[in-house]
Amino acid sequence: MAGRNFLFVPGPTNVPDRIQRAMVVSMEDHRSPHFPVLTNTIMAGLKNVFRTKVGTPFVFPSSGTGCWEAALTNTLSPGDTVLASRFGQFSHLWIDMCERLGLNVEIVDCEWGTGVPLQQYADILKADTQHRIKAVLACQNETATGVVSDIAGVREALDEAKHPALLFVDCVSSLGCIDFRFDDWGVDMAVSGSQKGFMLPAGLGILCASPKALAMYPNSKLKRAYFDLVDMQQANANGYFPYTPALSLMYGLVEALKMIEEEGLDQIVARHRYLARGVRAAVTEGWKLSLCAKEEKWYSDTVSAVMLPAGIAGTDVIARAYHRYNLSLGGGLSKVAGKLFRIGHLGDMNEIHLMAAINGAEMAMLDCGVAVKPGSGAAAASEFWRSNPAPSGLGPHLALQERQALARASASATATARG
Ligand SMILES: Cc1ncc(COP(=O)(O)O)c(C=O)c1O
Repeated sequence: MAGRNFLFVPGPTNVPDRIQRAMVVSMEDHRSPHFPVLTNTIMAGLKNVFRTKVGTPFVFPSSGTGCWEAALTNTLSPGDTVLASRFGQFSHLWIDMCERLGLNVEIVDCEWGTGVPLQQYADILKADTQHRIKAVLACQNETATGVVSDIAGVREALDEAKHPALLFVDCVSSLGCIDFRFDDWGVDMAVSGSQKGFMLPAGLGILCASPKALAMYPNSKLKRAYFDLVDMQQANANGYFPYTPALSLMYGLVEALKMIEEEGLDQIVARHRYLARGVRAAVTEGWKLSLCAKEEKWYSDTVSAVMLPAGIAGTDVIARAYHRYNLSLGGGLSKVAGKLFRIGHLGDMNEIHLMAAINGAEMAMLDCGVAVKPGSGAAAASEFWRSNPAPSGLGPHLALQERQALARASASATATARG
């Protein structure tokens, strides 16, 4: 098939050329005296992305799921109670893992399309005067439904109840895209992975642990081996890993961290908001369809889950988009299987790139009998993007030095013209 595949599943995301090139490296001795430079560069960069001074980042050759397990098994003991809410496939899978590991999960089941229920968390934590609950789990961005949750609000609920439970956050599809503040929000374990906001292939589990979480290790009795944080910490302290690290991905990560620093986290968050708002305009104002997220406060800036009219199978729209237009959209999972399709708008992305998703999804919907007005999605998104100021991260991809050189050149040209 001519032309490239347009990838809009909400992870893995598009890998920028710069990162692809950075991963083409010869293998090297991971026990050499030079190796710690790579490890230390990565750890320093990750601290910036997690916005932490107190947290310790960890990088595992795994995916995000591995770090779910690392967070639990290095802090908790069999039979411990954790509080968790379920409102989508990923919040469900973390709960399932807790149960399989022998934890007692106090589950708050919520309507899919909503997120972490702050009031219920607050009530449960206040009522738990014996401090039975050892950890509170929150999925910041439920990728299955396109729902974002208020993590600062969870911290407030813990503080108001003066509850000592640890706060564990899944930020797999939000870190490096949606605002995340490890220190300010008093997060104890933040779980992420390489294939979303970091714009890398899957293969690295990325975790950050607070001193309070690490202090739980000696008393925690869940079994751990591969994901033992102390093994990892001891090796990392000297710049090494307890086993063979995923070298190519780590060189890619260095480049990704550079790109994140060049654009700036605040700008990245603003760009994701701006792009997401254009997509939402296409869905609600253009196509007159609704999002799975029930209210504006739940709207995710990294993924939009678009509900299809009754009688239309989401699987047909997704298959048509893929087979006819070479466009990869995300499908509905579990409870929402067949009812929606998802557009991932995270990572290396701009307006025109997203137009491919909007137009392609619209063509696939029309082919499958959805009564949307042709051209209406693009018209609404374009109206939004053209009438709102774009964050500075959009425009040509330039390295920081090039941008600074351009800015200097244009300042001196202006001065000469005036002078
Ligand atoms: C919110 C969320 N949590 C956890 C995971 C699992 O991560 P991984 O597939 O990297 O193991 C995903 C994957 O998409 C996710 O979106």
